[in-house]
Amino acid sequence: MSDLLAALNALRERLKEIPQADERRLQELKTELLGRKSGALTEILKALPSLDPDTRKRVGGAANALKHELEAAIAARELELKRGATALADADLTMPARRQWRGGLHLVTQVVDEICDIFKELGFTRVVGPEAETEYYNFYALNFPKDHPALDAQDSFYLGGDVVLRTHTSPVQIRTLEAYPPPIRIVVPGRCYRRDPFDASHSPVFEQIEGFAVDEGITFVDLKATLATFARRIFSPTTKVRFRPSYFPFTEPSAEMDVQCQICGGSGCAACKQTGWMEILGSGMVHPAVLENSKLDSDKYTGFAWGMGPERIAMLRYGIPDIRLFFDSDVRFLEQFARSTEHRAEGAAPSSVLPPSSSVLRAPSQ
Ligand code: DAH
Repeated sequence: MSDLLAALNALRERLKEIPQADERRLQELKTELLGRKSGALTEILKALPSLDPDTRKRVGGAANALKHELEAAIAARELELKRGATALADADLTMPARRQWRGGLHLVTQVVDEICDIFKELGFTRVVGPEAETEYYNFYALNFPKDHPALDAQDSFYLGGDVVLRTHTSPVQIRTLEAYPPPIRIVVPGRCYRRDPFDASHSPVFEQIEGFAVDEGITFVDLKATLATFARRIFSPTTKVRFRPSYFPFTEPSAEMDVQCQICGGSGCAACKQTGWMEILGSGMVHPAVLENSKLDSDKYTGFAWGMGPERIAMLRYGIPDIRLFFDSDVRFLEQFARSTEHRAEGAAPSSVLPPSSSVLRAPSQ
C-alpha cells in the first residue's frame, strides 16, 4: 500500500509542471497522467478493486483527490493558453511601435564629423593618432626648441619620462610623414591635454582637429582657399575670413584665421570683444625643418597645416557661452542638440588609426 501512496506523492509533484506547459506539453501531460489507457494515475485507479477495503479507501480517496486537482490545473492552463491566443489575435500588429530613445551623439562629436565631412569632399582623409606621445613627436620633430616653455611640466601632463599626454594633434603630422610618401592630405580629430584652468573658455581636456597637406607645388594660395572654403561651408556662404600673421614653430609663415563674428555679424559685441572677428584656427606653411626631420626633400615638397578647436566652433555656431557645458554631461543641455545616432552610421567614415593602408591616405587624383 505504501508503494501506491508513494507513487501518488510522486504524481502530485507533476502538478507543478502544468502552469508552465505550452499547448503541446499540456496534451502530453494529460495523456501521461490521466490517459484512459495507460495514464499513470489511471493505472493506480485501475488497481483499486484488487485492494483490501481499508487500503482501497485510503488510496482511492487520495487518488481521486489528486485526479480532481490535476483536472482543475489542466483546465485552468487550457483556459489561460486560449486567452493568450485571443489576446494576440486581437492585437493590431500593424500599429507602429513607439520609438525607443537610443541616445544621441554629443554636439562636439557631431561637429567633428561635420568638419571632417567637409574636408573629405576637399580630398582629405580622416586619421587618428595616439593620445600619449613622446616629447619627440609632440615637440622636437615639430621644430620646438629644446627650452620651449610648452615642454614644461607646468604646461603639459607628463606620464613619466619623456611621455606626455599630447598637447595638440600636430604630432600626427610626423607619424604620417614617417609612414607615407606624399601626396598627403589628412584631417586628424582627437583629444588633447594641457594644464589649463577649467573655466568658461578653457578646459584641460579638449578636442582638436589637425589638417595637413604635403605635395609638390603647394602654396599659401592653397591654404587660404581651403580654409576659406571650409569657413563658408561650416558657417554660411557669405562668411568673411581674414588671416593675421602669427607664430608656430612648425609653420613658416604662420597665420591665424578669424571669421566674422557669428553672434553680431561683424558690427562688434561682447563675445568678439567689439572687434567683429573671432579666431577659429592657427595655420601656416609647413616649416622645411619638419619635412627634413622626416627625411623629405623640402626643396621638392611644400605643404600647409592648421589646427582648430571643434568645441570653439560649436560654441560660435550655437551661441554656447561656456565650454564646461560640454563636459558636465547634463542631459537637459545635451539633448537639445541630440541627433539620432543613425546619422553617424550613414554619414561619417570612422577614423583610420595610423598606419592605415597607404592608398587610403592618398588624395583622389584631380
Ligand atoms: N598645434 C597648434 C596648437 O595647438 C595649432 C596649430 C597651429 C596647428 C598651426 C597647426 C598649425 O597645424 O599649422 O596651438
